[in-house]
Amino acid sequence: RDWETPLDSFDTLVVLSNRQPYRHTRDADGSLAVDRPTGGLTAALDPVCQRAGGTWIAWGDGDGDRQVVDENDRVDVPPTDPSYTLERVWIDDDLADTYYSGYSNRLLWPICHGAVDEAKIRPGDYDGYRRVNERFAERVVPHVSGESLIWVQDYHFALVPAMIRERVPPSTTIGQFWHVPWPKPETFSRVPQARALLDGLLGADVLSFHVRRFADRFLTCVEYFLDDASVDWDASVVSYDGSDTQVVAVPLGIDADEHARRSQNLDDGVYETLSAELSIPDGTLLGLGVDRLDYAKGIEERLEAIETLFERRPRWRESVTFVQTTTPSRTDIPAYAAYGKRVRRVVDRVNERFGTDSWQPIVYTESYLTRDQLTALYRNADCLLVTSLADGMNLVSKEFVAASVDETGVLCLSDQTGAHDALGDVANTIDPTDRESVWRTIDDALRMPVREQRVRMRTLRARTAERSLSWWMSTLFETFAAATPDRSISPQG
Ligand code: G6P
Repeated sequence: RDWETPLDSFDTLVVLSNRQPYRHTRDADGSLAVDRPTGGLTAALDPVCQRAGGTWIAWGDGDGDRQVVDENDRVDVPPTDPSYTLERVWIDDDLADTYYSGYSNRLLWPICHGAVDEAKIRPGDYDGYRRVNERFAERVVPHVSGESLIWVQDYHFALVPAMIRERVPPSTTIGQFWHVPWPKPETFSRVPQARALLDGLLGADVLSFHVRRFADRFLTCVEYFLDDASVDWDASVVSYDGSDTQVVAVPLGIDADEHARRSQNLDDGVYETLSAELSIPDGTLLGLGVDRLDYAKGIEERLEAIETLFERRPRWRESVTFVQTTTPSRTDIPAYAAYGKRVRRVVDRVNERFGTDSWQPIVYTESYLTRDQLTALYRNADCLLVTSLADGMNLVSKEFVAASVDETGVLCLSDQTGAHDALGDVANTIDPTDRESVWRTIDDALRMPVREQRVRMRTLRARTAERSLSWWMSTLFETFAAATPDRSISPQG
């Protein structure tokens, strides 16, 4: 499908996200280094903006960033071949602590992921969140001209759509993509500002989730919390405060061809060097986990399942190695620091219990891996373990599938991921709440005959290629174009 067409319906595109796609830092010698923060959201949207152009507004979180921007806080990216403008919003440490480490990640993240025991709210956190939302909304206004599309990302900015709506002409289309799960009403009711968040989101013309499950939970919450909103379930539209919000489910995809090409063209030496560096032994099967270090990913539970596997199936000792790569994240938040310690403790315990002079059951690394190194791991893995307790999408599972160009390898996928709704039954389904099922699924995966691996992997690859990044983009932009509002009877006139 041609995705130029729907993009052409708009004069301007402005994307808002908390995390920026490129971060600049100064090395010790003063030279400038550019890196790319971890996380599916920025990785997915960067190619979209590269094709569409426009402006991406995000939190600038490095001193290096300040040194490369112009007086309007702008810099053109990607550095090698600039095609859109990145505009940074600076947030001082105290405000960031309330907005990002506080309300966004101590409260909204655990609530959306059903981790109610981790959900905390401190005095001042909501106020900080509201102030930062306002600051971002204000930054959008100067960019609006003609038929503009403002596209707000994720749970950091639930209040932004309504704030923008107050400030821009009616011809502006506002979209919001909620990249994380939407919680059940009983969980959402733990948020003291539940109504304010819904009110903020309903300022959008189009609100999208990855899967229908989350969209339906959102509509249920609207009915439950907002007396003056009406939900048309057949059309999936909410009417509220004089305007309509179309609620859709459009699962994010990856550029499967690009991942396959990278894998196809990869030099074997990349894996040889990496496996030597990480001490991955030759000649064992390879189980793989690739995650941000986050309790929602179920990493600790997965490692415990691996421990049970070695206990119950001694034949796997010295014949399978599990590589777990994690990227530490949000380490200022006590729950994350504590989780990292627990994960490392399980790794040490399992390695002590079952390791031998020449073999470690779990190779654990928090080092940064290049895209080629990651592809080498995907290509060489016999199975990928995704055991998230809750996950908006999980692009790692799709990347593994796309990189498995020889059509072997087994995807063990939690049924609590958006990816499972999209890839479904052909994956080896894990119920992460059932400890027995996790180690048994891994056991089955390791024993799966190559012929069956091929049959499943072919289907997984076809589904991943079909629901690609460009499909996601076209579908969403068509929805935005169709929703371009006729606001002649709205309060703005
Ligand atoms: C998830 C969220 C993103 C976020 C990413 C990384 O994918 O949906 O919004 O950017 O995690 O987390 P971080 O807090 O480091 O940005």
